[in-house]
Formats: sequence, C-alpha cells, structure tokens
Amino acid sequence: EKGGYPHFMLKEIFEQTDTIFDCIRGRVVANGTAIKLSGVNDHPDRFINAGRILIVACGTSWHAGLIGARLIENFARIPTRVEYASEFRYANPVIRPDDVVIAISQSGETADTLAAIRLAKEAGAFVYGICNAVGSSIARETDTGTYIHVGPEIGVASTKAFTGQVTVLTMLALAIGQLKGTISSEQIAEVGRSILRLPDLIAETLELNPQIEKLSAIYTYVHNFLYLGRGYNYPNALEGALKLKEISYIHAEGYPAAEMKHGPIALIDKEMPTVVIAPDDELHEKVISNIQQVKARGGSVIAIVTKGDTTIPAMADHVLEIPRVPEALSPIIAAIPLQLLAYHIAIMKGCNVDMPRNLAKSVTVE
Ligand code: F6R
Repeated sequence: EKGGYPHFMLKEIFEQTDTIFDCIRGRVVANGTAIKLSGVNDHPDRFINAGRILIVACGTSWHAGLIGARLIENFARIPTRVEYASEFRYANPVIRPDDVVIAISQSGETADTLAAIRLAKEAGAFVYGICNAVGSSIARETDTGTYIHVGPEIGVASTKAFTGQVTVLTMLALAIGQLKGTISSEQIAEVGRSILRLPDLIAETLELNPQIEKLSAIYTYVHNFLYLGRGYNYPNALEGALKLKEISYIHAEGYPAAEMKHGPIALIDKEMPTVVIAPDDELHEKVISNIQQVKARGGSVIAIVTKGDTTIPAMADHVLEIPRVPEALSPIIAAIPLQLLAYHIAIMKGCNVDMPRNLAKSVTVE
C-alpha cells in the first residue's frame, strides 16, 4: 500500500501532484477567475461582518495557519491572529460574537484544538474547520468548513496535509476577498490560474529529488541547522526545521531571515548549515544580504531559489531551483524541497521516518 515507495512519507510527498488536484477540484472555477467554497458562500454575512479572524492549531497545522493569516490579511483585509490551541484555551482569550475562528487540524482529533473550538462556540463565534479526516470530531463540531481532501496521511510527519492546508487557506483568503471586494478580479485570476497549474508545478519541483538526495549525504551528520525565510516563507522556515528535527533528530531552528542579526547569527560557523528560502519576490534583495552574512562567517548555505535567479547561485553552496509562481503560492512549492531534504537526511541517518520516536499521528492527550 506504499505504492512502490519505500516509505509512506516519500509516497505522500510524491502524491502531492494528485492530492492538490483533489484539493482544488471544483473550488477554483471559471478558468481560475473565481473561487467557490461553500463554507464561505453559504455564510456570506459571517465573513462580511467579521471583526477579526482567529486561527487555532498545533504543530504543522499552526505553521499553515501563520501562512493563512498573511494571506487573509493581504487579500481579505480582516485582522487575523494565529494562536497555538494549547495556549489559547488557557489564556482567558477575548472572543467576540463577530469573530470567525478557524481551526486547522489534519486528524480533526487534536485535543487542544478541539477544546479551543468549544471555547469559541461558547463565546458565540462562528467556527470554521479545515480538516483532512472526514467526519472527525473537529469537522463535526465546527459550524462549517473546508476539507483539504488529500487522502489518509499515514507518515507521522505531516507533508501532503500541510500543502493541502495552505492551498485551502489560499482559496479561503481569495474567496473572502472576492466576497468583500478587497481584491480585484485581475488579482483573483492571477493567483487562481496559477492554482490550477499547481499539480504540474509540483511535479516539476519533485524533479529535484535526486539532487536533494545527493545533497543530504553531505549534511547527514551535522548537529544543528538554521532555516531562514521571509514573508509567506517565514512559516515555511519553521516548518522545514520542524520536519528535520522530528524525523532526523537533528536540532533545527527556523527564523524570519531578518531576525538572524538579532541573535542567531552568533551560532553560525562552518559546522552549522543554513537553509534559505529565497524565491524571487519583493524581499529577495534583503534575503541576499542574509546569505552574504552567513557566508562571511564561514557557514554553508543551501538556497531555494526561483529558476533563472543568477545572483544567489553565485554565492550559495547549493541551489535548489523551484518554478516561478505568484508570491502567494511560493510557500506551497517551496515546502516540497524542504520535505525531501528532511526525508533524505533522516534516511541516511537510518531513522524510521514513518514512525519517529516519541511521536504519535494524532495527539489526543492534553
Ligand atoms: C508534524 C505534525 C504535528 C501535527 C500536530 C497537529 O509533522 O504532524 O506537528 O501537525 O500534532 O495535528 P493535527 O493537524 O492533526 O491537529
């Protein structure tokens, strides 16, 4: 049932061409010029009148939430906060009846996330679920929502669920923006058309696999890794670091790239490689200067760049090229090489990637 792959994790990484196809099917319509999400279309008043959006989740789903908050603020102009469900539920949070609370959970069974939505419902907020497991507790207890439809995720390290969550959050941000008129139809079409191309773009990105496998041999035995990204890709840096630590047991930290100079730069030496997510976007120049700072301190750099970039390849030790996409979609594409890097390093270390030590697929304890 691993479909010819040696591990569920690798199967689930490679499956993303199909899972994203299923995730967007019937939701990005009219050749990419309109978004149809029943959870939004059936409750327009809740979104038009929303004072705030609060996103609650744990782990990888929380990272997806951080990307989602940026997308929602950018496209729908609704103030959005992201909380760890475990903190939110005990923080005596201010929840208002005009809040929309979005709960993100692959399993739909995470105890803290479930408790957070119960609190939100008691306070009269409208609760929107983004789940994978159909009929799960969170899916049942939310007022409405959107399934990510990526199929069962068996590997303990979340991969295809993450890209499905971010894809749904992108469609959600566009759908609310479309409803509120905070984005133009040209903007919707620009992102919408590229969403329809995601399965092909993911297939193209997966061609990096042999290159990443070779690269992983060089870094198998390091003890620490730094991950940097900005904008939509800052949460991707957190997620890349989490993937590596949970399956390879290598200590890794993710930071917004510009924060490096406020402390973490002290850690950099030739023993500590840095993964920089640096697509060709508005913050490209800034990230280039971060790469120079790492290089100046003897650190090695693995850079994820847009195909055709000529500046970063001249200074990074290794370059992984991803296809050009609108900025809002870059975290979905950039997540793929991060997943593959964690996978290959863990395999080379001889780790059990599908069942890493101390971890469970569904965290139903508090
Ligand atoms: C990491 C991972 C966990 C989960 C977290 C939340 O790879 O899988 O961090 O993301 O336990 O789980 P769900 O999304 O099921 O609520």
